[in-house]
Amino acid sequence: MKKKVITLDEFIIRRQADFSYASGELSALLRDLGFAAKIINREVNKAGLVDILGTTENENVHGETVKKLDIFANDQFMDSFRSSKHCAAVASEELEDIVVFDDDRSKNAKYVVAIDPLDGSSNIDVNVSVGTIFSIYRRITENGPCTIDDFLQKGSEQVAAGYIIYGSSTMLVYTTGHGVNGFTLDPSIGEFCLSHPNITTPDDGEIYSINHGYRWNFSDGVKKYIDHCINSDRSRPKPYSMRYIGSMVADIHRNLIKGGIFMYPTSNDSPNGKLRILYESNPMAFIVEQAGGKAITGLYRILNYKPESLHQRCPVFMGSKNMVEKLRECLEIDYAEMSEDQLAQIKSSQGV
Ligand code: AHG
Repeated sequence: MKKKVITLDEFIIRRQADFSYASGELSALLRDLGFAAKIINREVNKAGLVDILGTTENENVHGETVKKLDIFANDQFMDSFRSSKHCAAVASEELEDIVVFDDDRSKNAKYVVAIDPLDGSSNIDVNVSVGTIFSIYRRITENGPCTIDDFLQKGSEQVAAGYIIYGSSTMLVYTTGHGVNGFTLDPSIGEFCLSHPNITTPDDGEIYSINHGYRWNFSDGVKKYIDHCINSDRSRPKPYSMRYIGSMVADIHRNLIKGGIFMYPTSNDSPNGKLRILYESNPMAFIVEQAGGKAITGLYRILNYKPESLHQRCPVFMGSKNMVEKLRECLEIDYAEMSEDQLAQIKSSQGV
């Protein structure tokens, strides 16, 4: 007998009914995100066909050259949030400051969204998977337009987070803190359909993902873990595989399903790592934890880190529980020789 297809919209509505106090605003916001994702997907898929590829002359706030599709994706999500009326403000990787919606309906909305509209965009020209990452918080300021304080909350305060991967098929994966569910876009009906219910990540994995090119810049602890992955081959039935796409959504999605660890550590050149807390590390950490994995900055849980600025970065290690625990054990050597003061500084910078 054929299984009934459950669309994203249907699923969101069903889940809303599980919470008697739910007002429907979060559900509506998630559906708006799903709709915007379909439009981005359409553009990503025809990127090779139209004059939308190539760089613009602009640089984003981090001094990186912006691809046209980055701007398209950013504008699309902004329009969608602005017209949704369920979002009071947005922080985007592409914009230096938050965008506050202060019309009568939006300014009293309960939620704010942090988004990386097109992560991994340097991969677009070569047909490698890219993604969108989003994170939703309940605003903490009480009345009137939002402020940056509504965004500078710990990741553990997220009410929902997710990603869309534009790959060999397009998937939307999200959590509201009650497990993780994945939906695949069926292009014939234009709907995201539930394809991966209750995703759980294996406790152990076969894959480690890191940019080996920076190896000599990594800390001793990170090098020790890489050596463990390389050298433990003989004691394992199958060697570890190194897989690194350079597109965080794609790397983490693969590891989430198959089991593995994703790492973007600090290095001499990037003392805080590369990935942004608000719209990269936190949402992916929320998903990985909800799927049964672990996500740390080194010593501590990513979701405990309270950012002090919008585009702040942090080191990232996340994935299968046992692999992250082993990594953490290896990192102990980085901290063993630190003074109490240095450790206290790390603790305070990591919101512990
Ligand atoms: P970008 O959006 O500029 O392509 O950056 C992608 C991010 C992230 O998705 C990925 O994991 C990481 O940067 C890769 O960085 P490296 O090239 O330094 O390894």
